[in-house]
Amino acid sequence: MIRICPSILNADRNNLASEISRISAQSDLLHLDVMDNIFVPNQTFTLEESRKIISETPIPVDAHLMIADPDQSAHLYAEAGAASVTFHLEASIKPVETIAKIAAYGARVGIALKPGTPFHLIAPFMSDIDMVLIMTVEPGFGGQSFMRNMMAKVEEARKEIDTNYYGKIWLQVDGGISLETIQTASAAGADTFVAGSAVFKADEPGEMVNLLRAAAAVN
Ligand code: DX5
Ligand code: ZN
Repeated sequence: MIRICPSILNADRNNLASEISRISAQSDLLHLDVMDNIFVPNQTFTLEESRKIISETPIPVDAHLMIADPDQSAHLYAEAGAASVTFHLEASIKPVETIAKIAAYGARVGIALKPGTPFHLIAPFMSDIDMVLIMTVEPGFGGQSFMRNMMAKVEEARKEIDTNYYGKIWLQVDGGISLETIQTASAAGADTFVAGSAVFKADEPGEMVNLLRAAAAVN
């Protein structure tokens, strides 16, 4: 099962509804990058703006929180209706509580790892989460180059998921995913792919989603 999640980070912010309408029929989830200018040196959507986007998006929203102190507010994105809420392990002091608070709203729970964070640190939480997000760029900006050296981490995660959590946990990659790189990530074991610039810089974003899906399926 392959899932394609276009990120609206670099879409036209002034025409978001129309940008989203160009990919919604082809996409599994809309990836919403929330940045607070503290955890990462960039700022995107406030909770209020996120709430509006979530309520107006016709497909499930995958919220990726690049914020300090997700323990305080991650569950509010689930309350706002996000289908999936992912927070960064590096930013959380109470991951167990935060997982439970998100899940209480019925959302899927994801934990994200920055490139420098080893996979084994997520081990204590695997039985309680629905998705692992392995960043393939340093979080903060779209349009960066895919880090091929993250594939060992993706392979490690795939092995652990197949051994102990088969079918339960999605394995997502985010950063630099394009027609040139998606097959590499898929071969390493990713099944859920975020793509920002590759989709929204394409002349036909919806068609690009189809092409990415087809490329990921070649394994
Ligand atoms: C980066 C974000 C990504 C970003 C991906 O911190 O988490 O979701 O939008 O953009 P591309 O696909 O351009 O690397
Ligand atoms: Zn993201």
